[in-house]
Amino acid sequence: MDRLRINGGAPLRGKITISGAKNAALPLLAVGLMSDDTLVLENVPHLADTKSMEGLIRHHGVAVSRRDETVTLSGAASSFDAPYDLVRKMRASILVLGPLLARYGEARVSLPGGCAIGTRPVDLHIRAMQALGAIVELADGYIQARAPQGLTGGRIVFPMVSVGATENAIMAAVLAKGSSELVNAAREPEISDLADCLNAMGAQISGHGTDTIMIEGVNSLGGATHRVVADRIEAGTFAIAAGITGGSLTLKQARPRHLDALIEVLRLTGIDVREVDDDLIVTATDRVLATDISTNPFPGFPTDLQAQFMAMMCVADGSSRISETIFENRFMHVPELVRMGADISVDGGVAFVRGRRQLTSAPVMATDLRASVSLVLAALATEGQSEVSRIYHLDRGYSKLEEKLGQCGARLERINDGKEDDDVS
Ligand code: EPZ
Repeated sequence: MDRLRINGGAPLRGKITISGAKNAALPLLAVGLMSDDTLVLENVPHLADTKSMEGLIRHHGVAVSRRDETVTLSGAASSFDAPYDLVRKMRASILVLGPLLARYGEARVSLPGGCAIGTRPVDLHIRAMQALGAIVELADGYIQARAPQGLTGGRIVFPMVSVGATENAIMAAVLAKGSSELVNAAREPEISDLADCLNAMGAQISGHGTDTIMIEGVNSLGGATHRVVADRIEAGTFAIAAGITGGSLTLKQARPRHLDALIEVLRLTGIDVREVDDDLIVTATDRVLATDISTNPFPGFPTDLQAQFMAMMCVADGSSRISETIFENRFMHVPELVRMGADISVDGGVAFVRGRRQLTSAPVMATDLRASVSLVLAALATEGQSEVSRIYHLDRGYSKLEEKLGQCGARLERINDGKEDDDVS
């Protein structure tokens, strides 16, 4: 099990090129199940999660090859079963449900189980498939779905916004007979990226990026070449890294329009944020000021940046109120930040943070992807040597993190304990 040894206290200064988005690449890899023709995906980040998804799509029988950041998928699926031992490693495996049902009329996908940040049910995914005419049963821990006559377009109303359920519904509806309307759909940039790729393959999707998406079903999809959109959460993480260390970072290819809520909040804390074409220049001169946030679906403040922002509020001037409205247990980073001297109290879905001038270096443990990077940020801002253990969580969502931060003055070193990683949930 690897850990990261960090000697903090130095401001980060330099340039970082943002990689392709994990949360766009994962559904896009599942699209490889939807056409026998060749799908070429460019700018696919090297991550544990993309590797898992490539493995799952290969398990279904599609040929998947990778050369640097380009992944090529071709051929038909021969198995429609996503087994527990693959799905439990990565919840996003549920995203094969829509594609398999749409293209082959059947899918047997293991229920993903919960994870560190919450129960994360899949009821909205199932109801979306049923709204398109699928027969879905839950048995032996599996979702068993079939549509022997194919799917039929319909109206899908999401009672709450769900990124994954919206993605599964889009992928299912593009090959359904007739029209579909998705109401209260997720508006994340990753949804738009998925729709753009499917349209390049011959799908007829409109309204993506808004809360109502219209889809005209087509008989089949062809191949395409598609470049994965930049990772706004990686970019936002590094923007906060500049703020917490009092440094200045230029984030290349960061797509500012995908980070409006964060940019607004950073400016409220006194951080200077400049947009130059697709780049973001983030400069913190003084100690940041405390400000409140509440996480919301896009275009609101992203839940995937909540832990990172909390780390910065731990050393801010003043007190802040951080409300997590998306997941019921996304404060796993709190006890670890408290070990570093942070002053945080939690009441249900709200954390109250009293900023301190300095934290104290300490050994801390990562629990989930974004919690782990929030601990790295806190350690980078803290004089002395800290260690973050179980950083396999980090490797799920950040490619070349040590390299990217090291180029900007961070002093961090990966230590291999020689033990196996725990199960990754
Ligand atoms: C996606 O997860 C992202 N993952 C998450 O990023 C992100 O935090 C989340 O969207 C919210 O933005 C990927 O895209 C691979 P949801 P997803 O369905 O689709 C509840 C990261 O760190 N819900 O939008 O699983 C759910 O429990 C990861 O990169 C149901 O109740 O999230 C949650 O409370 C973490 N029933 C809320 O909806 C369902 O059927 C939003 O979840 C589905 C979801």
